[in-house]
Amino acid sequence: MSVKILGIESSCDETAAAVSVDGRTILSDIIYSQVEEHKKFGGVVPEIASRRHCENILTTVEQALAKAECTLNDLDGIAVTYAPGLIGALLVGTGFAKGLAMASGLPLVPVHHIAGHIASVYITHPDLEPPFLCLVVSGGHTMLVRVHDHTRFEVIGRTHDDAAGEAFDKCARVMGFPYPGGVHIDKAAQSGDPHAYKLPIPKVTGCELDFSFSGLKTAVINLAHNSEQKGVEINKNDLAASFQHTVSEILVSKCMLAAEMYGYKKIALAGGVSANSGVRSCLQTECEKRGYDLFMPHISLCGDNGSMIACQGYYEFMAGKRADIDLNAVATMSLE
Ligand code: KG4
Ligand code: ZN
Repeated sequence: MSVKILGIESSCDETAAAVSVDGRTILSDIIYSQVEEHKKFGGVVPEIASRRHCENILTTVEQALAKAECTLNDLDGIAVTYAPGLIGALLVGTGFAKGLAMASGLPLVPVHHIAGHIASVYITHPDLEPPFLCLVVSGGHTMLVRVHDHTRFEVIGRTHDDAAGEAFDKCARVMGFPYPGGVHIDKAAQSGDPHAYKLPIPKVTGCELDFSFSGLKTAVINLAHNSEQKGVEINKNDLAASFQHTVSEILVSKCMLAAEMYGYKKIALAGGVSANSGVRSCLQTECEKRGYDLFMPHISLCGDNGSMIACQGYYEFMAGKRADIDLNAVATMSLE
């Protein structure tokens, strides 16, 4: 008997819903992105995000069920992102999922957003099974995770300040790109020289697997401002390429160090920044050199989506994880 899970995601600026069968088969994946609206403000406006989630969640879920050709009666559970993220945004998804679970009598399964990102790799690579090491790089998180099994995680490296995606977006802004800027840096970098600008590799005190991006971000911002004051034009493509190259080096070198320290030969990449062509190719090169197997999500699954929640929801469901009507949304929560 197969297990069908509806996954609901609303932690930031995407309202998304999907239906999975036995975790890795996705029957439908509906995403309503609010990005065009937030673009006007140069970043996500939490109040607007919550309002749009409220307006769109019902249609998004209805469409996901319709596309999957199923009704609530065909489902085995309802999975929802309950942490971490924007609290008002998370509340819309959790509130909706709780109502649906109560009305239908279906089990409610809480999913951690980062566990969802990790699960996006299972959808792309049906052959991937834990244990493996996962480099998670998103707009809000940068971490190295030991994936012991589908629902057990150990974080062995984390950022002390900005997340990689945050650094991409802030540097993109100073280069004049619209929000979210990561993808624009990626595009500009394709025609730039990655060695044109010498950018600092931030030093991190304490754990050698931890990250820091604020020094690098500040260096890019200062470079752009100083050039502007002197009336010297920066070469955007070169700066984008240099920044992307430096971020890739930082991420990949720490990931390789972690793999060596813990003896992993299976490496995965997840989160919004996993769409970055520089990070992907740098990781691929280093994994090939060492004979490691690399698993990356399909580009369409790198950003926030419902499939990853429906997939992780299946594993949480099978592990017996359930929430009841007092499930609360939580803005900050460790993956462990
Ligand atoms: O995982 P995600 O969709 O949301 C969070 O959970 O935070 O990640 C969004 C982040 C943004 O910072 C966005 O600029 C970045 O992922 N991003 C990229 C690319 N595509 C998305 N960064 C660099 N290169 C890309 N191609
Ligand atoms: Zn995300």
